[in-house]
Amino acid sequence: MQGLFITFEGIDGAGKSSHIATLAQALRDAGRSVTLTREPGGTPLAEKLRAMLLNDSMDALTETLLVFAARRDHLRSVIEPALARGEVVLCDRFTDATFAYQGAGRGFDLDVLSYMERLAQTGLASDPDLMRNPDLTLWFDVPPEVAAERLATARAPDRFEAESADFFARVARGYAERAAAAPGRFARLDGAQAREQVAAQMLAAVAARGWLPEGGR
Ligand code: TYD
Repeated sequence: MQGLFITFEGIDGAGKSSHIATLAQALRDAGRSVTLTREPGGTPLAEKLRAMLLNDSMDALTETLLVFAARRDHLRSVIEPALARGEVVLCDRFTDATFAYQGAGRGFDLDVLSYMERLAQTGLASDPDLMRNPDLTLWFDVPPEVAAERLATARAPDRFEAESADFFARVARGYAERAAAAPGRFARLDGAQAREQVAAQMLAAVAARGWLPEGGR
């Protein structure tokens, strides 16, 4: 079977995390092997970088370099090998988050990000020129006010979750711009709906690509 790389994106509080397990189960029920992972993180080295990114103060360049370093290690050690085995890789966040958070949120140069994206995501698979990108990105789109309300009741905020409403408005616009630039790769889900409806939208988007039986589970 062909490997599949599916990423989950959205601003903090968009609610994506609770849906990843649902999709994993649906894919397993359909006979697929699934690797569940996340960014930043997914390897011992990248998880150490994650702890620094979420807790230690640093400038936008340092933050961006660490994010891509974590991604490179993750791609080499986990994502590429799983795809080569024909598995489905479900990854909680990937490079769209870098464009949204470091790019739109922090104002980091988008051309430099594109260069770093190419650097980190090529020279990995059997085809050295291939730039590894998700086959599908499930974008949980919620108004920043709704996400902020959800976050208010959550655990102690990390460095990103503690950011201002303006920051999240920019991040949300950053996601919208990435989606507009790659409409075939993105599926926009209305994350403001009730949880079951969001799950149904997600399963329908995956089924529409022929990767699950129609009607979801
Ligand atoms: P998140 O995925 O929301 O995990 P949790 O649900 O455990 O809080 O947290 C990861 C944070 O890292 C999130 O606030 C966004 C940020 N991030 C970036 O700023 N850039 C990136 O490239 C990635 C992958 C994440």
